[in-house]
Amino acid sequence: MRGNMAHKRKETATVLHQHPLAPGIYDCTLSTSLAKEAGPGQFIAVYPKDKSTLLPRPISICEADGERGTLRIVYRVAGAGTAEFSQWKEGEKVGILGVLGNGFPLDAVKEGQTALLMGGGIGIPPILELAKRLPGSKKIVLGYRDGDCFLKKDLERYADVVIATEDGSIGSRGNVLDAVLENGLEGDVIFSCGPMPMLRAVKDYAARKGIRAYISLEERMACGVGACLGCVCRTRDVDPHSHVHSARICTDGPVFEAQEVDI
Ligand SMILES: Cc1cc2nc3c(=O)[nH]c(=O)nc-3n(C[C@H](O)[C@H](O)[C@H](O)COP(=O)(O)OP(=O)(O)OC[C@H]3O[C@@H](n4cnc5c(N)ncnc54)[C@H](O)[C@@H]3O)c2cc1C
Ligand code: FES
Repeated sequence: MRGNMAHKRKETATVLHQHPLAPGIYDCTLSTSLAKEAGPGQFIAVYPKDKSTLLPRPISICEADGERGTLRIVYRVAGAGTAEFSQWKEGEKVGILGVLGNGFPLDAVKEGQTALLMGGGIGIPPILELAKRLPGSKKIVLGYRDGDCFLKKDLERYADVVIATEDGSIGSRGNVLDAVLENGLEGDVIFSCGPMPMLRAVKDYAARKGIRAYISLEERMACGVGACLGCVCRTRDVDPHSHVHSARICTDGPVFEAQEVDI
């Protein structure tokens, strides 16, 4: 299991710009020195200013530009914390902790192999930095509720994009796997982030095909920083330090080889 050994630190970031991307979904660029260390599949924890919402909120890195010192995050308003973030204005100072999590293994794809990148809903943002950094051939499959296909154009810069929508308004009706089957897509390694039912389907599909799938378990987390044990999941192998069949998703993950974890 690949933990994040880098030093994490708390920082005050500055909001460079923020705008809505789709109903309830916001696109924000932060100026922060953490950008230099950030990779695809890693995340930052963002502190709400309202003290009644104590814990920082984990948000994935959508894009990281180390040279400019900027991090892009894309998030859905789910409750009090993200509702507060959606009110940020240009120049606002924001407390963040990072960089957290292990991230997607870029070396998992060997020369000549094709990667299948699958993102569902608010699991799509981390797929963008992954698509940018992953070398070699890749295909991207995105699953949305409806025709508001946020980040689709950004992802099309890096590979062909196939769409599934739950309401069938664009692309295949159903989830990302319906689109994979309908379009006869094949790959050697899968990278995926999205809601738990989608990740279970990806795990089953990968097992049937006998290919490796790396899944990001964003859903099962509370504090995001290793403090609450609210994110523990059962693992196939015994952890060499704790000698138990479990892992903390926030520190050992959020990315796991699908067959390693019970989901
Ligand atoms: C590693 C990681 C990366 C994430 N990346 C993103 C991202 O890039 N964009 C994004 O929009 N969201 C992301 N999330 C989810 C995000 O952290 C939650 O939506 C957020 O913490 C909710 O905070 P809140 O105060 O707005 O809502 P709360 O009041 O805390 O919760 C509101 C509702 O959201 C549910 N919820 C809380 N946490 C999660 C969660 N982790 N996943 C799903 N539902 C949750 C709660 O059960 C509740 O029903 C990520 C989560 C993790 C663990
Ligand atoms: S989410 Fe709290 S320990 Fe992992």
